[in-house]
Amino acid sequence: MQDTKTTLKDIKDEASTKIKSLDSLDKVQELHVEFLGRKSKLNTVLRTIKDLDSDQRSDIGKLGNQVKQYVTKLLDQREQELKDIKLKTALNQEWIDITVPGEIPKVGAIHPITQLLWKTEKIFEKMGFEVFLPNEIDDDYHNFESVNIPKGHPARDAWDTFWTEDGNILITHTSSMQNRVMRRMKPPIRAIVPGKCFRNEATDARHEHTFYQVEGVYVDKGITLKDMLGTLKVFFEAFFEKEVEVKFMPDYFPFVEPGGQMALSCVLCDMKGCKVCKETGWLEVLGCGMIHPDVLSQAGVDSSIYSGFAWGFGLERLIMLKNNIEDMRIFHSGDLRFIQQFS
Ligand code: PHE
Repeated sequence: MQDTKTTLKDIKDEASTKIKSLDSLDKVQELHVEFLGRKSKLNTVLRTIKDLDSDQRSDIGKLGNQVKQYVTKLLDQREQELKDIKLKTALNQEWIDITVPGEIPKVGAIHPITQLLWKTEKIFEKMGFEVFLPNEIDDDYHNFESVNIPKGHPARDAWDTFWTEDGNILITHTSSMQNRVMRRMKPPIRAIVPGKCFRNEATDARHEHTFYQVEGVYVDKGITLKDMLGTLKVFFEAFFEKEVEVKFMPDYFPFVEPGGQMALSCVLCDMKGCKVCKETGWLEVLGCGMIHPDVLSQAGVDSSIYSGFAWGFGLERLIMLKNNIEDMRIFHSGDLRFIQQFS
């Protein structure tokens, strides 16, 4: 009897140690067979109980059953623990944070013209300029007559014009807004007009039929060319994010007197001389001048009290200089590889 008890105790201890150190659900079944199966030591012992003396039988029988219950329970518990661990691990690894914003594939970028148009507007707005948008189709009066280019004036030839059948114009320059801007605002007038312009000319690396201009109009008492050069220098330094020199070179536009081109120190070579500035160190970037007194009076501004300046620059040219782009046609090519470089 002592032996059988000891055997049962040994079985219990052995099972207990093995079950407690069990680390995989796959092995649960193995231990089940080992300790509770038909051929297990425990069952072998239990089978011999019926042969024992009746006084021992109940004691040993009881003990045997206790051991069996104990091992069964322990194994069930360990199995449940292992299942819990497995679930927890899965939950941790496969956890999805539904508050994280979805990943949107990046397929586009804002066009460089738009980006630099915004930048241009921001710089001028900081200097107190208001932004006006032009009509893309306008009349002869606004595009030409109001800026001193009457019908038959030879200067009209300088703007290859697209006409509509009813005699309107796809604006050839943003100067088409000078008259309206001056009528709408009272001096001091500070306005820019960024917008699309159109010219009926052959396209090449430097010319497009459709392009952006940014017109500027500044009218107040005692305004001189110096104010214009100062204003534009501030703009170009902010636009190119570096120091620049500016200079005025006489040229003819019917709506300004004196009229000219403003040249900018070459932003590519810093005036050392390069292909783009043709070794001169200077880049002609815009037409400008003091607004002609007749243009002021036509817009209802008293030219004996006020003076002002105006300019117009092509935006693509500046973007080409800023990013070292050689061919203007790339802007409207629709080539995503080009646009994505600006994202
Ligand atoms: N409108 C002129 C052009 O298209 C540029 C310009 C604007 C010149 C204002 C002088 C003053 O070439």
